[in-house]
Amino acid sequence: MSVQPSIGKSLNRLEGHLKVTGAAKYAGEYPAENLVYGYIVNSIITKGKIRNIDTGPAMSLNGVIKVFTHKNRPSLAWFDFQYADMDAPPGAAFKPLADAEIKYNGQPIALVIAETFELARYAATLIDVEYEEEDFETNLVDNLDKARTPKVGLATFLKPLPTKPLGEYRKAYEGSYAKASGEFYHGTEHHNPLELFATTTIYGKDGKLTIYDKTQGTVNCQLYVANVFGLKYKNVQVISPYVGGAFGSGLRPQFQLFFSVMAAIELKRAVRVTLDRHQMFTFGHRPPTLQHTHFGADATGKIQALHHAAYAETSQFEDYTEVVVNWSNMLYPSRNTLMEYKLVPLDVFTPLDMRAPGGSTGSHAIESTMDELSYALNMDPVELRLLNYSEIDESTGRPFSSKELRQCYLQGAEKFGWHKRSPQPGSMKRGNKLVGYGMATGVWESMQLPARAEAQLTKEGKLHVLSAVTDIGTGTLTVMTQIAADELGLAMEDVSFSYGDSKMPFAPIQGGSFTVSTVGSAIKAAGSALRNKIFKKAQAIKGTPWKNLKIEDVIFNGGYISLKQDPANAISFTEIIAANKGRMIKTTNLSLPKALKLKKYTRAAHSAAFVEVEVDEELGIINVTRALTTVAAGKIINPKTARSQILGGMIWGISKALREETITDHEMGKYMNQDLAEYHIPVHADLHELDVVFVEERDDIVNELGTKGVGEIGLVAIPPAIANAVFHATGKRINQFPIHFDSLL
Ligand code: MOS
Repeated sequence: MSVQPSIGKSLNRLEGHLKVTGAAKYAGEYPAENLVYGYIVNSIITKGKIRNIDTGPAMSLNGVIKVFTHKNRPSLAWFDFQYADMDAPPGAAFKPLADAEIKYNGQPIALVIAETFELARYAATLIDVEYEEEDFETNLVDNLDKARTPKVGLATFLKPLPTKPLGEYRKAYEGSYAKASGEFYHGTEHHNPLELFATTTIYGKDGKLTIYDKTQGTVNCQLYVANVFGLKYKNVQVISPYVGGAFGSGLRPQFQLFFSVMAAIELKRAVRVTLDRHQMFTFGHRPPTLQHTHFGADATGKIQALHHAAYAETSQFEDYTEVVVNWSNMLYPSRNTLMEYKLVPLDVFTPLDMRAPGGSTGSHAIESTMDELSYALNMDPVELRLLNYSEIDESTGRPFSSKELRQCYLQGAEKFGWHKRSPQPGSMKRGNKLVGYGMATGVWESMQLPARAEAQLTKEGKLHVLSAVTDIGTGTLTVMTQIAADELGLAMEDVSFSYGDSKMPFAPIQGGSFTVSTVGSAIKAAGSALRNKIFKKAQAIKGTPWKNLKIEDVIFNGGYISLKQDPANAISFTEIIAANKGRMIKTTNLSLPKALKLKKYTRAAHSAAFVEVEVDEELGIINVTRALTTVAAGKIINPKTARSQILGGMIWGISKALREETITDHEMGKYMNQDLAEYHIPVHADLHELDVVFVEERDDIVNELGTKGVGEIGLVAIPPAIANAVFHATGKRINQFPIHFDSLL
């Protein structure tokens, strides 16, 4: 019986049972000898200075070991660049405890270390801080006069600034037969993964640090810690095997890492620092963004003018940017365009990537405006998109490496039953509920970064692969094992994958939907190199008859190498290992994206979302009764875990459109709903029929695996599809997320 390929199979997560039985350990759960606990104190003012900080009453408690403040902190790295991690936007990264200055509400200002977490938390309440307050600004809409072009930095490479204007947008818009425009807004959103941010730092012999951290990048955190604390890279090991959801929140080292490491070095013992749910609202967030659009079409429905402007919040110290406005002309050809993107620096912490950063923001405005345009043209929304289907990326003039978006529209409309929609808003009813159908397009760039992987044929003749990459709950362990298994023709159970450790071969941060393409390609390359090496060893054993064979003449399957022409002529991996004196055979391989070739193409995953809502006529309550997302994302390695990614994104889309918002009191500059009781996310009762279809898409350009990534694309199209369905149900176009039921009354 030959071993069948694993790629393409719907396999369960390999670590699933460990997670559901509680056996999987998270960063804040690692046992350590002589462990002490830290609790962070956060500023209650928004801007100003600490005039005095009295730690006496806290220190007097039995069991409180130390309180760190800006006054007694150890000496730390001085330069801005030493605090810049792989995902740092242009500017100066926040330096905890640097001085008495307060830059935002919730800023960490002290760390209490005690024998127990509860004691540290209690002692923190006894710390008396005298502040000197200054005026501040936290309201985006009130500060648009401060909007400016973002600074350019390394991050701009992955997040390009707006494309150059084409033609004469204004003239073309004025002369358009049909016009649609709007102002769109969503407020601040905060990350709320199940697992709270935590770091356990173990202080080892000679000051070597073993750090269990909740992060999306073990190497990123290793470099950050070494740079900030002046340590040798080899003396810092960051381990992160299980991550209870991250979605962008762990792309940058968060400040609990800094505090845990600082205290461990100073006290020369193990220190754990865990943030509580309130403190999850004291670092990065999705930035509130205001957008304007003006789309114009001729009488046939062809778009001739596209204007999209976005004003997004950033901090006073870093220019966090997202790709918000580049998408419309990538999706819809137009000869006349104007894309604008400006930042408004406010007295807040630097915003942070949150699943489909920018893409989900831009699609809200673009796809709602397209819907409006379809009504102005008296045309079906799907038809309008098919009519304006772009065969090349008009925003850059480049072809797509592949694009099966048309199939997303067609198969989606068919499966959803879109033809049952009667176009007139308010025309479909079910009892006292107005029924609306809405749809939208999604797009997300398919990126690939350099990564390294090691592949070993172990003494037992099994395959073991290693990479520093994390698994943030996406199924990385399973998918990487599938890729490795196929490279050597092995069954899943004969392959193991070690990951989540900065000591392993380099992997960049896990995010941007680029992990399968990035680390998967490295594993494929390392596996292929290992195959060559094993084959050479086999040739040496088999002697003359195999000497002149090429690797194409043999098959790797089930732990054997055999001749294609004569399958009985075979040699097992265990024989090869025995001939290698029982030693393992290994290769490492650096996988680099083929930058020059890839530059000629636009590489993107696409989707179409179809949504049915019911709106209670009297109460305005909106229910998403059905949602379908069709996705074209190249090769799907594991349909089951990929589907889970899309479903998660769809649920987040429902959340974004109807639930999630951080409410800021701009008098205080403070977020008011800092817990899951008041920060609303969907619960089971909010979720009904959700469906995902992957359309066939072959891409021979994007990378050797043909993968485009499915992390973000599931979120992009759902929020505007919901807004469009609400319009179809009620005739009211609500351009502010989340849509509150009172706005429909
Ligand atoms: Mo990605 S922003 O790390 O979900």
